[in-house]
Amino acid sequence: MLELGQRLDELRSSGLHRRLRVVESPQGPEILLDGEPVLLLCSNNYLGLADHARVRCAAAEAAMKWGAGAGASRLVSGTMPVHSELEQRLAEFKGKAGALLFGSGYLANTGTIAALADRDEVVFSDELNHASLIDGCRLAKAETFVYRHRDTEHLEWGLRRAGDRAALIVTDGVFSMDGDVAPLAELAELAQRHRCRLMVDEAHGTGCLGPDGRGSVAAAGVGDRVDVVMGTLGKALGAYGAYVCGSRELIDYLVNASRPFIFSTAPPPPVVAAAQEALALILERPKRVERLAANAAAMREALAAEGLAVPEEATPIIPMVIGGPREAMALCEGALASGVFAQAIRPPTVPAGTSRLRLTVMSTHKVGDLRRAAGVIGAVARELRLGSAKPAARDARGAGGGRRPHESTGAGVDLPHAA
Ligand SMILES: Cc1ncc(COP(=O)(O)O)c(C=O)c1O
Repeated sequence: MLELGQRLDELRSSGLHRRLRVVESPQGPEILLDGEPVLLLCSNNYLGLADHARVRCAAAEAAMKWGAGAGASRLVSGTMPVHSELEQRLAEFKGKAGALLFGSGYLANTGTIAALADRDEVVFSDELNHASLIDGCRLAKAETFVYRHRDTEHLEWGLRRAGDRAALIVTDGVFSMDGDVAPLAELAELAQRHRCRLMVDEAHGTGCLGPDGRGSVAAAGVGDRVDVVMGTLGKALGAYGAYVCGSRELIDYLVNASRPFIFSTAPPPPVVAAAQEALALILERPKRVERLAANAAAMREALAAEGLAVPEEATPIIPMVIGGPREAMALCEGALASGVFAQAIRPPTVPAGTSRLRLTVMSTHKVGDLRRAAGVIGAVARELRLGSAKPAARDARGAGGGRRPHESTGAGVDLPHAA
């Protein structure tokens, strides 16, 4: 039997133990954290909609009209007009024929990949994909080929080796811990050439990139060449849950084959109504998306002015890679002592040797507060004599030598990077 105390001690001694911090206010730019007011720089409430008055009202009204819960899975008696309406709006927003709601992004990813990749087939997955995509690969009966981060040559090599067993390429659109964007045009071209599906996770693309915040797929202009567009309702859309958009045939198939969809209670009506109101707000006032981009640019500039290395990207996710978990935690705690909350992210969420602060900017931040926060982080980093490096997956593997979060499986495809 696993020795829990021993395992916890090991986590503590390697600087990887985690504890929960309690936020005693809505997810605004300023929150009460464990009783103290702090500037929030690690929420995915990118457009400030989680705490928007109209979104809260929509949830409250739906609770009164439809009740707190859906009472059953969608296929039994849990499908209500709120579900179908939001699915229709999401499909329109993403330019697809249909959409299907899931209980969460984790469930959408695991349930979609497992349904789309069969025994004897191969799924191709970027090495820095989100854990839910990784777990979808693990759950699928297919083999997984993990290609180097954004490396389309490596992917193509794997596709050629897999031949007609290639089933699905899966990628984050915006990578959740690095804030960089997948090479979607090249991936679409490869998927087409090798006759397999392409699935893009828009958890951090929706509301952040593309025209009216339609996502990284729309920004790259490849909407008609991405077969499966997944997105979440718990980030820029301020609520909870997720969706998959695609052809009517895909949606019909997932209704019949995706286990987390079939065997889980339908999303609660208040949450679904909240997401629908948030979507309406984005479309009514797309300036929120522009404001988010401007804030992200201002924050990157302010951090660079402090001498901190931050990658040049156009997304609101800004990684400051420190290296060791203890150093990243020390920077987090030091900034927190000065009222700036940016959570440290450590393995296994990121590869060993790349512990970091993952800063996220919201459209509701004031530029002056972002500049002050950059000054605080810069001062603490200097005091601790910490630099920040550009995140690079392959460098990290060499430096860390630790357990990789994502590894290829199966025989038949040669895997030089997974040794
Ligand atoms: C890229 C990505 N995909 C999927 C998920 C999972 O979404 P959810 O939080 O709705 O389970 C997340 C969120 O943490 C994410 O960052």
